[in-house]
Amino acid sequence: MQSLKVELAERTYPIHIGRGLYAKADLILPHLKRKKVAIVSNETVAPIYLAQLANALEQHGVTVITVTLPDGECYKDWQTLNLIFDVLLAQRCERNTTLIALGGGVIGDMGGFAAACYQRGMPFIQIPTTLLSQVDSSVGGKTAINHPLGKNMIGAFYQPQLVIADTDTLNTLPERELAAGLAEVIKYGLIRDIEFLVWLEGNIERLKAREPEALAYAIHRSCLNKANIVSADERENGERALLNLGHTFGHAIETGMGYGKWLHGEAVAAGTMMAAELSALMGWLSSEDVQRIAEIFNRAGLPVIGAAMPPERYLELMRHDKKVDDGQLRLVLLKSIGKAVITDVATESQISMAITARLPND
Ligand code: NAD
Ligand code: GLY
Repeated sequence: MQSLKVELAERTYPIHIGRGLYAKADLILPHLKRKKVAIVSNETVAPIYLAQLANALEQHGVTVITVTLPDGECYKDWQTLNLIFDVLLAQRCERNTTLIALGGGVIGDMGGFAAACYQRGMPFIQIPTTLLSQVDSSVGGKTAINHPLGKNMIGAFYQPQLVIADTDTLNTLPERELAAGLAEVIKYGLIRDIEFLVWLEGNIERLKAREPEALAYAIHRSCLNKANIVSADERENGERALLNLGHTFGHAIETGMGYGKWLHGEAVAAGTMMAAELSALMGWLSSEDVQRIAEIFNRAGLPVIGAAMPPERYLELMRHDKKVDDGQLRLVLLKSIGKAVITDVATESQISMAITARLPND
């Protein structure tokens, strides 16, 4: 097992990464304030993983409540969030009951938001079971649900007490979901860790083959990058925004196409290609750089062409982005590979050109 910490003063918490960890009660018990937990999962993950986790805790005298939600990005909404509150209240969960989110980023984001709201805040633990959630969404305390007008628009910053990333859980993950997670892994290389990008270029096939050592290395390195950023800028007043490379374009694809049609990681990959094209238009990247980025996404099995929507529709959706400041669209672009910046220098017609460069031909 490898461990690291997200340093946030009295809210500092550990991330444990390794094999066979997700149902280890001794990792969880020291973080419980009372011997009662509510495990939030979904109808895909629960049948595979919930019983073992619940049994392990019950053997130590922990009362376990379970909430099984429908599966899908399209359920990351108010109605489904309310199902969590219904169970927490019906089962008389208290402020010191711990909520455990067991699943991918959708469950982590919704479980975390429920924990932030329930009785004004209950402790919560993340047990992420997708690559994307292990390298990104379970770390850093962003929790949210979607709104029909925009992705992750309703939410809170609320840090977990503990994150357990069990690489064995990735063995049951569909291929397409594994690839989607690689988009966020590649992101760290592109925005701030060129050495990691070079490692990924040499090892992407090992990750696709789910070699445990390669996965553990990539998850650890990604979490280190994220932990450093979050420790320095928890509330996204500066550097944290760089984690959104490709996301403003990507969120437009997700919202525009209907939640769940494109996986988040797929939309981020295509969105990153649009950001790369715009960075080239700014004169910061060469066409070889853009090609290099496309190549690593291609090898990961990710799209490098966006969804077929008119550029005007992209721009309309992008104006809802959380980085919009005083009506001004701000984007994360690449000054070079391995160095991202947040900037408002691009004009709408340049943004439009970059989008068009990555639209399907017909
Ligand atoms: P997801 O949660 O929808 O999971 C993907 C699919 O895999 C689902 O069908 C799920 O049921 C299934 N699944 C999960 N674990 C499995 C396993 N071990 N075996 C088999 N199937 C499994 O999607 P995701 O990619 O994990 O997360 C995407 C979400 O994360 C988006 O809503 C995105 O907005 C959010 N996100 C949040 C942050 C953040 O900082 N909070 C960062 C990035 C993404
Ligand atoms: N996934 C972006 C962030 O955590 O800030």
